Amino acid sequence: MTEDEERLGPAQVPGLGSAKKVSLNRRQRLLRLITSVLDPRAYLHALKLINYYNYSHVAPLRRVTRGAGAAISPNAVFSHPERIFLGDRVRIGARCHLWAGPSHGRIEVGDDCLFGPDVLVTAANYRFNDGSPVTDQKMDEADVRLGRDVWLGARVIVLPGVQIGDYAIVGAGAVVTKSIPQGAIAIGAPAKVFGQRSAMER
Ligand SMILES: CC(C)(COP(=O)(O)OP(=O)(O)OC[C@H]1O[C@@H](n2cnc3c(N)ncnc32)[C@H](O)[C@@H]1OP(=O)(O)O)[C@@H](O)C(=O)NCCC(=O)NCCS
Repeated sequence: MTEDEERLGPAQVPGLGSAKKVSLNRRQRLLRLITSVLDPRAYLHALKLINYYNYSHVAPLRRVTRGAGAAISPNAVFSHPERIFLGDRVRIGARCHLWAGPSHGRIEVGDDCLFGPDVLVTAANYRFNDGSPVTDQKMDEADVRLGRDVWLGARVIVLPGVQIGDYAIVGAGAVVTKSIPQGAIAIGAPAKVFGQRSAMER
């Protein structure tokens, strides 16, 4: 037991002890609704969200090169879309972010690829060793290429320079730092191959 706990008891020590969750009653919830509806800051925030979705999704999507039949979640984000190339029937899940390089790093996604939710694919890394803040430093860029029929599970991260072969699968939550061969199943951070897809050609 720490000195504070001995003196005050665990419930009195900041950050320790237990507390009951406070739930609002009907009247309090109604009051909260009315104050929200009347709060001009809420409308200003809605405009900020519209602006965000416009510059992160709506406007850039027009500049992404897309094949036929692509299905893209309305909250997927595209950075430097002129260097993003999606094949036919690609499916991009909720909140995915495809971040091509600011000057030359491309992201190429083959036909029939499937991205689960919250996937990040990036073709650029900040440098961090020249003594200035990271955001003031130049970026290193390297193309990312996914073959056809690649499945990236939820929350996969693919780093610059990675190539993922046709038919490969990357398990949920993996961080792909090195290239993955055709048909491989890879998991973990950093992602390692643990299996092979058995039937790959239709
Ligand atoms: C990678 C994946 C396809 C593997 O499926 P599978 O071949 O049926 O694998 P299994 O469930 O038999 O698991 C095999 C082993 O890998 C482990 N494993 C499976 N997926 C894993 C993951 N994403 N990360 C870490 N370990 C994983 C299992 O715990 C198991 O380990 P064990 O042998 O020590 O018990 C699947 O687990 C996965 O991650 N799917 C993505 C699901 C998803 O994100 N869906 C979103 C909608 S697209």
